[in-house]
Amino acid sequence: MTFPQRRLRRLRRTPALRRLVAETRLAPDDLVAPLFVREGITEAQPIASLPGVVQHTRETLRKEVAHLVDLGIPAVILFGVPERKDAEGSEAWNPDGIVQLALRDLKDDHGGRLVAMADLCLDEYTDHGHCGVLDRHGEPDNDATLELYGQVAQAQAQAGADVVAPSGMMDGQVAAIRGALDEVGAQQVAVLAYSAKYASALYGPFRDAVDVTIAGGGDRKGYQQDWHNGREALEEIRLDLDEGADMVMVKPALAYLDVIVRARQDFDVPIAAYHVSGEYSMIKAADQLGWVDGAAVALEHLYAIKRAGADVILTYLAAEAAEALA
Ligand code: PBG
Repeated sequence: MTFPQRRLRRLRRTPALRRLVAETRLAPDDLVAPLFVREGITEAQPIASLPGVVQHTRETLRKEVAHLVDLGIPAVILFGVPERKDAEGSEAWNPDGIVQLALRDLKDDHGGRLVAMADLCLDEYTDHGHCGVLDRHGEPDNDATLELYGQVAQAQAQAGADVVAPSGMMDGQVAAIRGALDEVGAQQVAVLAYSAKYASALYGPFRDAVDVTIAGGGDRKGYQQDWHNGREALEEIRLDLDEGADMVMVKPALAYLDVIVRARQDFDVPIAAYHVSGEYSMIKAADQLGWVDGAAVALEHLYAIKRAGADVILTYLAAEAAEALA
Protein backbone atom coordinates (compact mmCIF):
# COMPACT_ATOMS: atom_id res chain seq x y z
CA MET A 1 0.00 0.00 0.00
CA THR A 2 1.28 3.45 -0.84
CA PHE A 3 1.49 6.11 1.81
CA PRO A 4 -1.57 8.42 1.50
CA GLN A 5 -0.38 11.68 0.05
CA ARG A 6 -1.97 15.09 0.37
CA ARG A 7 -2.74 16.26 -3.12
CA LEU A 8 -3.43 19.95 -3.39
CA ARG A 9 -4.92 19.52 -6.83
CA ARG A 10 -8.01 17.82 -5.35
CA LEU A 11 -9.37 21.14 -4.15
CA ARG A 12 -8.66 22.89 -7.45
CA ARG A 13 -10.62 20.43 -9.59
CA THR A 14 -13.86 22.33 -10.26
CA PRO A 15 -14.91 25.98 -10.22
CA ALA A 16 -17.21 25.29 -7.26
CA LEU A 17 -14.42 23.67 -5.23
CA ARG A 18 -12.13 26.58 -5.98
CA ARG A 19 -14.82 29.02 -4.93
CA LEU A 20 -15.45 27.13 -1.71
CA VAL A 21 -11.84 27.24 -0.54
CA ALA A 22 -10.93 30.70 -1.85
CA GLU A 23 -9.04 32.59 0.85
CA THR A 24 -9.66 36.05 -0.55
CA ARG A 25 -12.97 37.62 -1.54
CA LEU A 26 -13.41 40.83 -3.41
CA ALA A 27 -16.71 42.68 -3.57
CA PRO A 28 -17.93 46.06 -4.81
CA ASP A 29 -18.02 46.96 -1.09
CA ASP A 30 -14.21 47.11 -1.11
CA LEU A 31 -13.94 49.69 -3.87
CA VAL A 32 -13.65 53.45 -4.11
CA ALA A 33 -13.94 55.08 -7.55
CA PRO A 34 -11.66 58.10 -8.16
CA LEU A 35 -13.49 60.72 -10.26
CA PHE A 36 -12.44 63.98 -11.89
CA VAL A 37 -14.72 66.99 -12.12
CA ARG A 38 -13.71 70.01 -14.15
CA GLU A 39 -14.99 73.55 -13.93
CA GLY A 40 -16.09 75.44 -17.05
CA ILE A 41 -16.76 72.59 -19.47
CA THR A 42 -20.10 71.66 -21.00
CA GLU A 43 -19.24 68.09 -22.03
CA ALA A 44 -17.16 65.37 -20.41
CA GLN A 45 -13.60 65.34 -21.75
CA PRO A 46 -11.71 62.10 -22.41
CA ILE A 47 -8.21 61.73 -20.90
CA ALA A 48 -5.89 60.26 -23.55
CA SER A 49 -3.55 58.50 -21.11
CA LEU A 50 -6.44 57.09 -19.00
CA PRO A 51 -8.67 55.31 -21.52
CA GLY A 52 -12.26 55.05 -20.27
CA VAL A 53 -11.79 57.77 -17.61
CA VAL A 54 -13.03 61.33 -18.21
CA GLN A 55 -13.02 64.81 -16.76
CA HIS A 56 -16.65 65.21 -15.75
CA THR A 57 -19.01 68.14 -15.81
CA ARG A 58 -21.19 68.44 -12.69
CA GLU A 59 -24.03 66.81 -14.61
CA THR A 60 -22.10 63.87 -16.04
CA LEU A 61 -20.55 63.31 -12.61
CA ARG A 62 -24.01 62.94 -11.10
CA LYS A 63 -24.93 60.35 -13.73
CA GLU A 64 -21.71 58.41 -13.26
CA VAL A 65 -22.09 58.32 -9.49
CA ALA A 66 -25.70 57.15 -9.76
CA HIS A 67 -24.43 54.28 -11.92
CA LEU A 68 -21.67 53.42 -9.41
CA VAL A 69 -24.17 53.42 -6.55
CA ASP A 70 -26.40 51.07 -8.56
CA LEU A 71 -23.40 48.76 -8.97
CA GLY A 72 -23.05 48.61 -5.19
CA ILE A 73 -19.90 50.72 -4.91
CA PRO A 74 -20.05 52.51 -1.54
CA ALA A 75 -17.61 55.38 -2.09
CA VAL A 76 -16.11 57.84 -4.55
CA ILE A 77 -13.16 60.21 -4.18
CA LEU A 78 -13.30 63.52 -6.01
CA PHE A 79 -10.49 65.45 -7.67
CA GLY A 80 -11.19 68.94 -8.98
CA VAL A 81 -9.83 70.76 -12.01
CA PRO A 82 -10.46 74.48 -11.51
CA GLU A 83 -10.66 77.04 -14.31
CA ARG A 84 -8.31 79.40 -12.52
CA LYS A 85 -5.07 78.31 -10.84
CA ASP A 86 -2.91 80.62 -8.71
CA ALA A 87 0.22 80.50 -6.56
CA GLU A 88 -1.68 79.49 -3.40
CA GLY A 89 -4.31 77.25 -4.97
CA SER A 90 -7.14 79.34 -3.56
CA GLU A 91 -9.91 77.66 -5.57
CA ALA A 92 -9.35 74.63 -3.36
CA TRP A 93 -11.09 76.31 -0.41
CA ASN A 94 -13.58 78.43 -2.34
CA PRO A 95 -17.04 77.44 -0.97
CA ASP A 96 -18.22 77.51 -4.60
CA GLY A 97 -15.13 75.74 -5.94
CA ILE A 98 -15.80 72.84 -8.27
CA VAL A 99 -15.28 70.02 -5.74
CA GLN A 100 -17.44 71.76 -3.15
CA LEU A 101 -20.26 72.14 -5.68
CA ALA A 102 -19.91 68.52 -6.74
CA LEU A 103 -19.94 67.31 -3.12
CA ARG A 104 -23.22 69.16 -2.56
CA ASP A 105 -24.71 67.60 -5.69
CA LEU A 106 -23.73 64.10 -4.63
CA LYS A 107 -24.98 64.51 -1.08
CA ASP A 108 -28.28 65.86 -2.42
CA ASP A 109 -28.58 62.85 -4.72
CA HIS A 110 -27.50 60.06 -2.36
CA GLY A 111 -27.19 61.24 1.26
CA GLY A 112 -25.84 58.51 3.51
CA ARG A 113 -26.02 55.84 0.79
CA LEU A 114 -22.76 57.19 -0.59
CA VAL A 115 -19.43 57.86 1.11
CA ALA A 116 -18.29 61.13 -0.47
CA MET A 117 -14.53 61.50 -0.17
CA ALA A 118 -12.55 64.52 -1.26
CA ASP A 119 -8.85 64.43 -2.11
CA LEU A 120 -7.30 67.20 -0.03
CA CYS A 121 -4.31 68.74 -1.74
CA LEU A 122 -3.31 71.89 -3.58
CA ASP A 123 -1.51 70.57 -6.65
CA GLU A 124 -4.61 70.63 -8.87
CA TYR A 125 -5.14 74.27 -7.86
CA THR A 126 -1.67 75.82 -7.89
CA ASP A 127 -0.18 77.33 -11.05
CA HIS A 128 3.21 75.73 -10.24
CA GLY A 129 1.76 72.26 -9.67
CA HIS A 130 3.27 71.60 -6.23
CA CYS A 131 1.21 70.29 -3.33
CA GLY A 132 1.71 73.43 -1.24
CA VAL A 133 2.68 77.10 -1.28
CA LEU A 134 6.32 77.67 -2.14
CA ASP A 135 9.06 79.16 0.01
CA ARG A 136 11.80 81.36 -1.47
CA HIS A 137 13.72 78.27 -2.61
CA GLY A 138 10.74 77.10 -4.66
CA GLU A 139 10.01 74.19 -2.29
CA PRO A 140 6.64 73.71 -0.59
CA ASP A 141 6.64 75.55 2.73
CA ASN A 142 5.43 72.89 5.16
CA ASP A 143 3.80 74.97 7.87
CA ALA A 144 2.35 77.67 5.62
CA THR A 145 0.75 74.87 3.62
CA LEU A 146 -0.81 73.30 6.73
CA GLU A 147 -2.80 76.51 7.31
CA LEU A 148 -4.25 76.24 3.81
CA TYR A 149 -5.01 72.53 4.15
CA GLY A 150 -7.08 73.43 7.21
CA GLN A 151 -9.14 75.84 5.13
CA VAL A 152 -9.63 73.26 2.38
CA ALA A 153 -10.77 70.68 4.94
CA GLN A 154 -13.32 73.12 6.36
CA ALA A 155 -14.70 73.98 2.89
CA GLN A 156 -14.97 70.29 1.97
CA ALA A 157 -16.66 69.44 5.28
CA GLN A 158 -19.13 72.29 4.91
CA ALA A 159 -19.96 71.03 1.41
CA GLY A 160 -20.83 67.60 2.82
CA ALA A 161 -17.68 65.48 2.52
CA ASP A 162 -17.88 62.36 4.68
CA VAL A 163 -14.13 61.77 4.41
CA VAL A 164 -11.27 64.11 3.56
CA ALA A 165 -8.10 62.53 2.21
CA PRO A 166 -4.92 64.58 2.55
CA SER A 167 -2.46 63.56 -0.17
CA GLY A 168 0.17 66.32 0.00
CA MET A 169 2.67 64.56 2.30
CA MET A 170 3.36 67.64 4.44
CA ASP A 171 4.50 66.74 7.96
CA GLY A 172 1.78 67.34 10.54
CA GLN A 173 -1.01 67.58 7.97
CA VAL A 174 -3.34 65.17 9.71
CA ALA A 175 -3.18 67.03 13.03
CA ALA A 176 -3.70 70.38 11.29
CA ILE A 177 -6.70 69.08 9.37
CA ARG A 178 -8.26 67.30 12.35
CA GLY A 179 -7.91 70.52 14.35
CA ALA A 180 -9.44 72.63 11.59
CA LEU A 181 -12.37 70.23 11.21
CA ASP A 182 -13.10 70.12 14.93
CA GLU A 183 -12.90 73.91 15.12
CA VAL A 184 -15.93 74.21 12.81
CA GLY A 185 -17.86 71.41 14.48
CA ALA A 186 -17.07 68.84 11.79
CA GLN A 187 -16.19 66.12 14.29
CA GLN A 188 -18.07 63.57 12.17
CA VAL A 189 -15.83 64.01 9.14
CA ALA A 190 -13.22 61.25 8.93
CA VAL A 191 -9.63 61.57 7.74
CA LEU A 192 -8.22 59.03 5.30
CA ALA A 193 -4.52 59.82 5.32
CA TYR A 194 -2.38 59.11 2.27
CA SER A 195 0.29 58.11 4.79
CA ALA A 196 2.71 55.99 2.80
CA LYS A 197 2.66 57.84 -0.48
CA TYR A 198 5.71 57.25 -2.62
CA ALA A 199 7.27 59.59 -5.18
CA SER A 200 6.20 57.34 -8.04
CA ALA A 201 6.52 57.51 -11.82
CA LEU A 202 3.13 55.78 -11.91
CA TYR A 203 1.22 59.05 -11.34
CA GLY A 204 1.94 60.26 -14.90
CA PRO A 205 -1.55 59.78 -16.39
CA PHE A 206 -3.17 61.35 -13.31
CA ARG A 207 -1.28 64.57 -13.97
CA ASP A 208 -2.85 64.67 -17.44
CA ALA A 209 -6.24 64.13 -15.84
CA VAL A 210 -5.86 67.18 -13.58
CA ASP A 211 -3.82 69.31 -16.02
CA VAL A 212 -0.82 69.51 -13.69
CA THR A 213 2.74 70.11 -14.81
CA ILE A 214 5.27 70.68 -12.05
CA ALA A 215 7.04 73.98 -12.68
CA GLY A 216 10.59 73.86 -13.97
CA GLY A 217 10.49 70.11 -14.62
CA GLY A 218 10.44 69.57 -10.85
CA ASP A 219 9.30 66.53 -8.91
CA ARG A 220 7.85 65.65 -5.52
CA LYS A 221 10.85 63.78 -4.12
CA GLY A 222 11.29 66.43 -1.42
CA TYR A 223 8.02 65.45 0.23
CA GLN A 224 6.73 62.13 -1.10
CA GLN A 225 8.44 58.96 0.11
CA ASP A 226 11.59 57.54 -1.40
CA TRP A 227 10.87 54.06 -2.75
CA HIS A 228 14.13 52.72 -1.39
CA ASN A 229 12.41 52.73 1.98
CA GLY A 230 9.92 50.32 3.52
CA ARG A 231 10.29 50.76 7.28
CA GLU A 232 9.83 54.49 6.88
CA ALA A 233 6.28 53.86 5.64
CA LEU A 234 5.38 52.33 9.01
CA GLU A 235 6.70 55.44 10.74
CA GLU A 236 4.57 57.64 8.45
CA ILE A 237 1.50 55.57 9.30
CA ARG A 238 2.23 55.60 13.04
CA LEU A 239 2.59 59.39 13.05
CA ASP A 240 -0.63 59.88 11.07
CA LEU A 241 -2.54 57.65 13.50
CA ASP A 242 -1.10 59.56 16.44
CA GLU A 243 -2.29 62.76 14.76
CA GLY A 244 -5.83 61.42 14.49
CA ALA A 245 -6.14 59.67 11.11
CA ASP A 246 -9.14 57.31 10.96
CA MET A 247 -7.85 55.29 7.99
CA VAL A 248 -4.47 55.14 6.33
CA MET A 249 -3.36 54.53 2.76
CA VAL A 250 -0.48 52.96 0.90
CA LYS A 251 0.09 54.33 -2.62
CA PRO A 252 0.77 53.07 -5.28
CA ALA A 253 -0.37 49.52 -4.63
CA LEU A 254 1.33 46.77 -6.61
CA ALA A 255 4.95 47.85 -6.26
CA TYR A 256 4.30 48.32 -2.52
CA LEU A 257 2.49 45.10 -1.54
CA ASP A 258 5.26 44.51 1.01
CA VAL A 259 4.29 47.77 2.69
CA ILE A 260 0.62 46.78 2.73
CA VAL A 261 1.49 43.43 4.33
CA ARG A 262 3.59 45.08 7.02
CA ALA A 263 1.01 47.79 7.68
CA ARG A 264 -1.69 45.11 8.06
CA GLN A 265 0.45 43.28 10.62
CA ASP A 266 1.26 46.38 12.66
CA PHE A 267 -1.98 48.37 12.67
CA ASP A 268 -5.62 47.54 13.33
CA VAL A 269 -7.23 50.48 11.51
CA PRO A 270 -8.73 50.19 8.03
CA ILE A 271 -5.96 50.19 5.44
CA ALA A 272 -6.58 51.56 1.96
CA ALA A 273 -4.44 51.05 -1.11
CA TYR A 274 -4.52 53.17 -4.27
CA HIS A 275 -4.18 51.30 -7.56
CA VAL A 276 -2.99 54.44 -9.33
CA SER A 277 -3.35 55.87 -12.80
CA GLY A 278 -0.16 54.32 -14.21
CA GLU A 279 -1.13 50.88 -12.91
CA TYR A 280 -4.48 51.23 -14.66
CA SER A 281 -3.06 52.63 -17.90
CA MET A 282 -0.47 49.87 -18.23
CA ILE A 283 -3.27 47.30 -18.19
CA LYS A 284 -5.31 49.25 -20.74
CA ALA A 285 -2.37 49.85 -23.07
CA ALA A 286 -1.25 46.21 -23.08
CA ASP A 287 -4.86 45.12 -23.57
CA GLN A 288 -5.27 47.46 -26.55
CA LEU A 289 -2.13 45.99 -28.10
CA GLY A 290 -3.58 42.53 -27.61
CA TRP A 291 -0.64 41.57 -25.40
CA VAL A 292 -2.59 40.69 -22.25
CA ASP A 293 -6.22 40.02 -21.38
CA GLY A 294 -6.84 43.31 -19.58
CA ALA A 295 -10.04 42.22 -17.81
CA ALA A 296 -8.28 39.17 -16.33
CA VAL A 297 -5.19 41.16 -15.31
CA ALA A 298 -7.41 43.77 -13.67
CA LEU A 299 -9.01 41.24 -11.33
CA GLU A 300 -5.66 39.58 -10.61
CA HIS A 301 -4.26 42.96 -9.56
CA LEU A 302 -7.19 43.85 -7.33
CA TYR A 303 -7.23 40.45 -5.64
CA ALA A 304 -3.49 40.73 -4.99
CA ILE A 305 -4.01 44.04 -3.24
CA LYS A 306 -6.80 42.57 -1.14
CA ARG A 307 -4.75 39.44 -0.36
CA ALA A 308 -1.86 41.60 0.83
CA GLY A 309 -4.20 43.05 3.45
CA ALA A 310 -5.93 46.14 2.07
CA ASP A 311 -9.50 46.66 3.28
CA VAL A 312 -10.29 49.44 0.83
CA ILE A 313 -9.07 49.79 -2.77
CA LEU A 314 -9.16 53.03 -4.71
CA THR A 315 -9.20 52.12 -8.38
CA TYR A 316 -10.17 53.42 -11.81
CA LEU A 317 -11.28 49.82 -12.42
CA ALA A 318 -14.09 50.14 -9.85
CA ALA A 319 -17.04 50.06 -12.25
CA GLU A 320 -15.73 47.30 -14.49
CA ALA A 321 -14.62 45.23 -11.50
CA ALA A 322 -18.03 45.63 -9.83
CA GLU A 323 -19.67 44.47 -13.07
CA ALA A 324 -17.33 41.50 -13.33
CA LEU A 325 -17.95 40.52 -9.70
CA ALA A 326 -21.76 40.79 -9.94
C1 PBG B 1 -2.12 64.66 -5.33
C2 PBG B 1 -2.47 63.32 -5.83
C3 PBG B 1 -1.82 62.60 -6.84
C4 PBG B 1 -2.51 61.41 -6.99
C5 PBG B 1 -3.55 61.41 -6.07
N1 PBG B 1 -3.49 62.58 -5.35
C6 PBG B 1 -0.71 63.00 -7.73
C7 PBG B 1 0.62 63.27 -7.20
O1 PBG B 1 0.95 63.08 -6.04
O2 PBG B 1 1.42 63.72 -8.02
C8 PBG B 1 -2.17 60.32 -7.98
C9 PBG B 1 -3.24 59.35 -8.28
C10 PBG B 1 -3.01 58.50 -9.49
O3 PBG B 1 -1.93 58.48 -10.11
O4 PBG B 1 -3.95 57.81 -9.86
N2 PBG B 1 -3.28 65.48 -5.24
